[in-house]
Amino acid sequence: MTTSKTIAIIGASGSMGTAISSSLAKTGNYSLLLMSDQTESLPELKSSLEQYHSNTQVHIIDCAKEASWEADIIILATPFQAEKDLAEKIREVATGKIVISIANPLNSTFDGFVTTPDTSAAEELQKLLPNSTVIKAFNTTFAADFAHTVIDGKQVDSFIAGDQETALNTVAELVAGVGFNPIIAGDLKVSRTLENMQLLMIQLGMKYNYNWLAGWKILHN
Ligand SMILES: NC(=O)c1ccc[n+]([C@@H]2O[C@H](COP(=O)([O-])OP(=O)(O)OC[C@H]3O[C@@H](n4cnc5c(N)ncnc54)[C@H](OP(=O)(O)O)[C@@H]3O)[C@@H](O)[C@H]2O)c1
Repeated sequence: MTTSKTIAIIGASGSMGTAISSSLAKTGNYSLLLMSDQTESLPELKSSLEQYHSNTQVHIIDCAKEASWEADIIILATPFQAEKDLAEKIREVATGKIVISIANPLNSTFDGFVTTPDTSAAEELQKLLPNSTVIKAFNTTFAADFAHTVIDGKQVDSFIAGDQETALNTVAELVAGVGFNPIIAGDLKVSRTLENMQLLMIQLGMKYNYNWLAGWKILHN
């Protein structure tokens, strides 16, 4: 069953922010609050999203704190490096809410992380937002995958990690709604593995020329 929730997409003008916003708008199940550092491109995105589903409410908000205050769920679709600053801005108003961490904390040469092996972007965000429920999602899917959730005839798996069952189920519903096969992989620490999975996928994509359209699929009986 779907529920009507308001979702703030912080970084809505970026590759992932646009892909996630477009996919959520198509479901018609959510009200969307679009926020970015610079808001010039957001009016065009807003009108294109409203064409997908006439019932989808889309608003542009130029302040991360205000957008998070209005939202039930907050998606940080920004570079990992922006999250510390953003977390400080939204900490108070994100209390008790789900905050989705999509970040892969890549270094500048795309061959490693700026985080240490004993943590993950999601765990670092949870430390910065102790009164929110951080859930890892969408980090193992490329932005291009959102328009092609079935690749080579197989529905792309999308992995989720977190420490709270109800929040995991809410995010799994959201992930399924946009067309991926949601797999709850484990607690928030599993984000370390999920972030490494996408590091591997990026490296393989560059080596074998996947053109940023590739995804994970567990084959099983
Ligand atoms: N691209 C992918 O396929 C992919 C896949 C999985 C996960 N991810 C993760 O998704 C995140 C976003 O990646 P992306 O490729 O979408 O990056 P991107 O295209 O560079 O977009 C980044 C977005 O973040 C915004 N932003 C930056 N600093 C901000 C701040 N302080 N406050 C508010 N907004 C801010 C930018 O806004 P302005 O443009 O207005 O400055 C832009 O909208 C990263 O953490 C990445 O690791 C990406």
